[in-house]
Amino acid sequence: MLNIVTYPDPLLRQISQPVEIFDDDLNNLLETMQDVMYRDDGVGLAAPQIGLSRRIIVLDDGNGLINFINPEILSSSNDEEVMEEGCLSLPDIRVPVRRPGEVVVEGQNESGKKVKYEATGLLARIFQHEIDHLNGILIIDHISAIQRSLIKSKLKQLEKKIPT
Ligand code: CO
Repeated sequence: MLNIVTYPDPLLRQISQPVEIFDDDLNNLLETMQDVMYRDDGVGLAAPQIGLSRRIIVLDDGNGLINFINPEILSSSNDEEVMEEGCLSLPDIRVPVRRPGEVVVEGQNESGKKVKYEATGLLARIFQHEIDHLNGILIIDHISAIQRSLIKSKLKQLEKKIPT
């Protein structure tokens, strides 16, 4: 089974490319991503995290699996919430992240059909976190200098780790 790409791998900083072909390869890829997400107890996974720079995410907030291709945030609420977030690509790090509490997102399902979600709470959180991955953004980009200093040693350790 695939390993997760972890910080500071430059793959996590790339802008992912849109998906244009909805075929068996895509479905196999989605299955792999689901397996990795559930294996590692994640609530979401973006393709760059398994080394593929494509605009594909899978997520499950506890209410069922969502395959989401070429997702985009159409609108977000003005109110913001702070929630603690972790990321499979940043092992052992949890940081408070401020984000809009509600989002409307649009994209395609595994068959290429347009789908739209209005999300609040944890689901809104996961959509934003995973769509960030497709734009090369990580949770550590959302935090204050003080919060960053608190996790500095953990980041240093990840930076030192020799890729396997
Ligand atoms: Co993540």
